[in-house]
Formats: sequence, structure tokens, C-alpha cells
Amino acid sequence: MPIEEAQALRSARLAALREECAQLWGNWPTELTLEIGCGHGHFLTAYAQAHPKEHCLGVDLLADRIARARKKATRAGLANLAFFHADAGLLLEALPPAVRLTRVFVLFPDPWPKRRHHKNRILQDPFLQQLAGRAGQGALLCFRTDYEPYFREVETLLATHSAWRPVGAPWPFEFETVFQSRADAHHSLLAKAAGPPP
Ligand SMILES: C[S@@+](CC[C@H](N)C(=O)[O-])C[C@H]1O[C@@H](n2cnc3c(N)ncnc32)[C@H](O)[C@@H]1O
Repeated sequence: MPIEEAQALRSARLAALREECAQLWGNWPTELTLEIGCGHGHFLTAYAQAHPKEHCLGVDLLADRIARARKKATRAGLANLAFFHADAGLLLEALPPAVRLTRVFVLFPDPWPKRRHHKNRILQDPFLQQLAGRAGQGALLCFRTDYEPYFREVETLLATHSAWRPVGAPWPFEFETVFQSRADAHHSLLAKAAGPPP
């Protein structure tokens, strides 16, 4: 696809997402819990039920997964929960400017095991910087995977990261995701945001 066409598509998608945001909650909260790659929404629905005072947003690239997640949210009758069909990076751009992330869950992200595909892993420096730019000071990033090489890579990255520092806090909420139920074991990592630049 020619670059101009790709840019025009991206701009149109961003505008549509901003409109979707505007329609979602008339009065947006200033604090948001975000799940990236939420799949069918099992985890975030249980989380939103257990944390009725938090506004929770799940995002996933796959439309059918978001359709199922939305059905769950509707069935549960939760006003503090919503799901968006979008790329996580574009959603971060589309969120109202005053919104700060307080908790971010990235649970069993696609591991991209082949070396030539590592560039597709979502938890890399550019995305961690973008996420930190939308995170309030002390925001918690909660990462879990069953793919040890990916875990070690993120662990190494966060050990010296400028915007996130690993913390030894307990995992904030347990509820098995679909991919977790298929895994023999998993690794978890928590990191806190230093806060957006002044
Ligand atoms: C391996 S699945 C895990 C789903 C769920 N978290 C679980 O544990 O069952 C990874 C999910 O991340 C989604 N995903 C991948 N890249 C994404 C992106 N850039 N933005 C939003 N979702 C993404 C995929 O569509 C997929 O549903």
C-alpha cells in the first residue's frame, strides 16, 4: 500500500477511535485501567466486577474477540467496563488527553518465537515509552507470559528502563485468562511508572 494511503487510513482510524471514545463515557474518568490484548475479555470482566470504582478498558486487534468481550460486559451489566477493537498504540493516541493509566495488564501477549518476528513483540522500548507517556506516576504495569525467552527479554529491558522500574509487589488480581488456562506455567512481572515527563 502506498505510504500516503496508509497514512490516510491511520488518520481515519484515529479519528474514528476518538469519536468512539467521545461516545463511550460522557464524563471520562481521569484514571483508567487498561488491558492490552484482552482477547475474549474474561480477565477484565472479572476485574471490573471486583473493582466497581475503577474504569476498565480492554483493547484487542481481533474483531471477533472484542465482539465476544462486549457480550460479556453487556451480560454482566457493568457500566465501568468497555472493549475497543483497535491497535493498542493507536488507542493510546486516541484516549482523551486528561486520562492517565493507573494499571495496565498485558497478559500472554503474542510471543513471536521466531527470531525474524521478534520485532513484532508488543513489549519493546518504543511501546513502553508510549505507555509511560500515558501513565500516571506510580502506575502499575502487569505483564504475564508462558514464553520464558520473551519474559527474560522484558525483564532485562525493564531492569534499566528510564520510564518503568520493576517492583516486587504482589500480583494485583488473579483470574485465569484463556491462554493462561492452556499454559503449563507462567512468569509474571510488575513495574511502576516514573510518571509522564513534565
Ligand atoms: C496470545 S493472545 C492472549 C489473549 C488474552 N490476553 C489471554 O491471555 O487469553 C494475544 C492477544 O493480543 C492481541 N494483540 C496483539 N497485538 C495487539 C495490539 N497491537 N493491540 C491490541 N491487541 C493486540 C491479539 O489479537 C490477541 O488476542
